[in-house]
Amino acid sequence: QWPDFIQIKEVGPRDGLQNEKKRVPTKDKIAWINKLSETGVREIEYSSFVHPKWVPQLSDAHEVGRKIKRNPNVRYSALVPNLKGLDLALEAGIDGASVFMSASESHNKSNINKSIAETYPVLEEVIREAKAAGKHVTGYVSTVFDCPFEGKITPEKVIEVCDHLVDAGVDDISLGDTIGTAVPSQVEALLDKVLDRYSSEKIIMHFHDTRGMAIANIMTSMQYGITRFDSSIGGLGGCPYAPGAAGNVATNDILYLLHGMGIKTGVDEKKIEKAALFIQKKLGKTLPSKSLAYAVAQ
Ligand code: HMG
Ligand code: MG
Repeated sequence: QWPDFIQIKEVGPRDGLQNEKKRVPTKDKIAWINKLSETGVREIEYSSFVHPKWVPQLSDAHEVGRKIKRNPNVRYSALVPNLKGLDLALEAGIDGASVFMSASESHNKSNINKSIAETYPVLEEVIREAKAAGKHVTGYVSTVFDCPFEGKITPEKVIEVCDHLVDAGVDDISLGDTIGTAVPSQVEALLDKVLDRYSSEKIIMHFHDTRGMAIANIMTSMQYGITRFDSSIGGLGGCPYAPGAAGNVATNDILYLLHGMGIKTGVDEKKIEKAALFIQKKLGKTLPSKSLAYAVAQ
């Protein structure tokens, strides 16, 4: 029994772009996000209020947030690592704040320069302030299957981090296969334990497609009743602190899968294709989505 409806969060402007060396001019990002706003997606992660030296591509988050044309049917969210980031994000305009940390000690350290124990109080403050400002808060947990430095991460460790974030007040949790190593049996092993504790509505799956396993993992997640997935248009992206990682599952590919199976998303595939071609042209390189490549060849 497959779900009737799957909710897609478009993370291309954040996760997709953050690893791109070629700077996309701010006006092009705004035009692109405005296109994405008209595709039917209900949530767009439009940028990241991290330190500009760490992710130079997204150093214009504030201007982007101020200038995009907001569609009232879309939740506009952004990544925030600390109170400084949250203040800037609130000023620029967000409906949702996404906090993030890793289930692996060494990835957490290389990504946000803190141990896991040092991260909790920082995020607790951010979550409290974001909730007080009336914002939706998502907690990302990275490296939930494998860490590029430490190898296997146990479901127990993932749950420990989820528990901290949920106790601190996040509305939902996005579980990240940051480097795209997982296979369906790993997804089963994790969801068996996570869904013992949390309802499937609270969980979002965030698969990177480094080895082409994302669609298989999404199928497995749907069998577990998961109905929310993050995806990146054209498959754009990676993680700057996870060497070799590829982008998220392509929005184009997950839409092809879901619509072909008769599962609704509310997202217009043709409009996604156009928005993917727009950014592909600006970046001057071919995006990895196979569905996009095939559509273009027709
Ligand atoms: P830090 O250097 O430890 O920060 O970086 P600090 O608190 O010690 O501050 C140092 C300086 O940075 C200070 O300035 C702060 O004001 C400034 P100074 O007083 O020296 O002049 N600063 C800031 N400036 C602007 N915006 C801010 C900010 N915060 C501090 N928000 C920090 C810690 C977390 C900031 C840094 O490590 C960082 O920005 N990391 C971001 C890494 C990142 O963006 N990674 C990619 C996103 S995560 C991801 O992709 C995974 C995900 O997709 C899920 C998955 O796939 O698994 C979500
Ligand atoms: Mg990611």
